[in-house]
Amino acid sequence: MEGILFHTKSITHIFFLLLPFLLPVLSQNPLIPLPPLPLVPEILTFLDQRLSIIYPIIQTFKTTITLDPFNITATWVGSDVCSYKGFYCDHPPDNLTAVALASIDFNGFRLSAPTLDGFIDQLPDLAVFHANSNNFSGTISPSIAKLPYLYELDLSNNNFFGPFPTAVLGMTGLSFLDIRFNMFTGAVPPAVFFQTLNVLFLNNNNFIQNLPVNLGASPLLYLTLANNKFTGPIPRSIANASSTLTEVLLLNNMLTGCLPYELGFLRELRLFDAGNNFLTGPLPCSLGCLKKIEILNLTGNLLYGQIPEVLCALGSLVNLSLSHNYFTQVGPFCRKLIKSGVLDVSGNCIGGLPGQRSRHECALFFSHPRFCPYMASYNFIPCSIHNSSSNHSSPTRSKENMVTYKTLTRHRLL
Ligand SMILES: *[C@@H]1O[C@H](CO)[C@@H](O)[C@H](O)[C@H]1NC(C)=O
Ligand SMILES: *[C@@H]1O[C@H](CO)[C@@H](O)[C@H](O)[C@H]1NC(C)=O
Ligand SMILES: *[C@@H]1O[C@H](CO)[C@@H](O)[C@H](O)[C@H]1NC(C)=O
Ligand SMILES: *[C@@H]1O[C@H](CO)[C@@H](O)[C@H](O)[C@H]1NC(C)=O
Ligand SMILES: *[C@@H]1O[C@H](CO)[C@@H](O)[C@H](O)[C@H]1NC(C)=O
Ligand SMILES: *[C@@H]1O[C@H](CO)[C@@H](O)[C@H](O)[C@H]1NC(C)=O
Ligand SMILES: *[C@@H]1O[C@H](CO)[C@@H](O)[C@H](O)[C@H]1NC(C)=O
Ligand SMILES: *[C@@H]1O[C@H](CO)[C@@H](O)[C@H](O)[C@H]1NC(C)=O
Repeated sequence: MEGILFHTKSITHIFFLLLPFLLPVLSQNPLIPLPPLPLVPEILTFLDQRLSIIYPIIQTFKTTITLDPFNITATWVGSDVCSYKGFYCDHPPDNLTAVALASIDFNGFRLSAPTLDGFIDQLPDLAVFHANSNNFSGTISPSIAKLPYLYELDLSNNNFFGPFPTAVLGMTGLSFLDIRFNMFTGAVPPAVFFQTLNVLFLNNNNFIQNLPVNLGASPLLYLTLANNKFTGPIPRSIANASSTLTEVLLLNNMLTGCLPYELGFLRELRLFDAGNNFLTGPLPCSLGCLKKIEILNLTGNLLYGQIPEVLCALGSLVNLSLSHNYFTQVGPFCRKLIKSGVLDVSGNCIGGLPGQRSRHECALFFSHPRFCPYMASYNFIPCSIHNSSSNHSSPTRSKENMVTYKTLTRHRLL
């Protein structure tokens, strides 16, 4: 198959390749006389030679599809590959007069096939592959790394299992990787974060490992690791992505340790949700530097101490969920946010506020000595603070407008 990619093949050669598929059909009915050799069935004329090369690859893939509830593949006939349902053509970057298969969008088609190997990795001009909500399985071939233009790969909500698909590590141009809602297990190779990814959606799998220490090495805007079994602390290196990182979902994992002071460097951050983990320690005052933060959700952790006034003074906050922790103090700025419904501190240990934990529960928690490394860093504010709380901007965004919260449902995003 490899050779098909790189060598010019005549159309008759393509049909020669197809003969094994055609012959059984043709020989089924003995009443139909076989045409004289050479056997040339319907002559297919392709708009571009590139399409004639991928035609047999699509037809072979079609034979591997075991379920097609919407009869999508019924449209995958004839030479007009660009009109097949789910297939989109465009001029390839290397020849603007040619026509090639540029993208595939199978979102929601619910096709079942045991593998995509021999299919997407054999489509040399493919730039985008979206296959949300299908029933694809198997491994991803390392030859996918040879596709020069592929930058967007969405295999979300399929039936993939086993280790992380390391084949994607070879893809130098990949910027969007969405493998959420599969059954991948084991570790995410740290090398993923050395790729130039803008979007990485790994939520709702079964990954089990400490968060890689090079987490911030990729220029990520959107990162979702939610609903896995990630352990260990949030790495300080997350700040390496400070010029890009916009939304981060870490909720429902098993993260431990104290929040790194470096979180405060994430100047583009609008959403950070690490709810329902085992994070502990006080909130670093550096969080008061998150000038663009709209939703900060740390509910259901083991955080304690005072809620920093500089955090509550941030004018961009729409929701600050700190419920079900062990916070003990709130100042006037934070009380203002409680009144306005922005700050939720229910289920903590704050004297005088309603809906707090019992005295006994709080005493039990604080009977264990608790430490964080770099304790001095928790009081340090690495930015200039303007008293902006009088300026509480009318919230421009809410939960519904956040990109990554949509990843927590199975369906398509794009
Ligand atoms: C698909 O095709 C089969 C047989 O041709 C037909 O019975 C069925 O209704 C079709 N399904 C859809 C969703 O069009
Ligand atoms: C570009 O594509 C067109 C159409 O397929 C083809 O005729 C032409 O030879 C190609 N040019 C080059 C430089 O490959
Ligand atoms: C998914 O494909 C497998 C075979 O690979 C099949 O057993 C299963 O029924 C399919 N599931 C759905 C929901 O189509
Ligand atoms: C990334 O973060 C680590 C740990 O904070 C730091 O040592 C390193 O210099 C950072 N690299 C870049 C490129 O910022
Ligand atoms: C805001 O200004 C007041 C008075 O100038 C000061 O006491 C307070 O600490 C400031 N708040 C923050 C969050 O910087
Ligand atoms: C915070 O997280 C909890 C648990 O995931 C969720 O129930 C709550 O709605 C979240 N709060 C906001 C403001 O998103
Ligand atoms: C988020 O905050 C708004 C007020 O700014 C409040 O109406 C809404 O209920 C909050 N959402 C959640 C999920 O707590
Ligand atoms: C208040 O908002 C205005 C307009 O959005 C902005 O120019 C100004 O700098 C803000 N003031 C503070 C103290 O942040």
